[in-house]
Amino acid sequence: MERTFIMIKPDGVQRKLVSEIISRFELKGFTLLGLKLMSVNKELAEEHYGIHKERPFFKDLVQFICSSPVVAMVWEGEGVVASSRKIIGATNPLEADSGTIRGDFGINVGRNLIHGSDAIETAKGEINLWFNEQELISWEPTLKSWLC
Ligand code: PPS
Repeated sequence: MERTFIMIKPDGVQRKLVSEIISRFELKGFTLLGLKLMSVNKELAEEHYGIHKERPFFKDLVQFICSSPVVAMVWEGEGVVASSRKIIGATNPLEADSGTIRGDFGINVGRNLIHGSDAIETAKGEINLWFNEQELISWEPTLKSWLC
């Protein structure tokens, strides 16, 4: 089953949007496999955003991610990588559609609340970078049997 890595960035935690954001993934029917509130060190932030290291905002982005706690999560479900990107919305909140997390709550591109893996392969790497195996719990939703 497909998995993705989602991080609520410091602005999302500071603005008390954690439950609002988590509920959007739960209501869509995805399954939460791992979740932790954590402080991010420079090494982890630089590795996570390494592909962007030549971009002008890299240093500020790393500094921001390390400035205050984030919520790191792994979600599972059919098509969860692409679907999560839709739930999250465009990178620039000013261009993100209403109904998406960034469209509804984001302020600007430097404070866009949340990260989601952009592809299945990227997701695998990011999950390995942020979580160890013991921190992820595989479980089968039994909701259907409860409804019968
Ligand atoms: S994307 O989503 O990867 O296609 O977007 P991209 O434009 O390539 O941006 C890559 C990540 O950098 C963040 N970003 C910025 N952060 C701070 N300031 C500025 N100006 C800025 N521009 C882009 C953007 O949110 C992406 O990070 P994540 O965490 O994936 O959202």
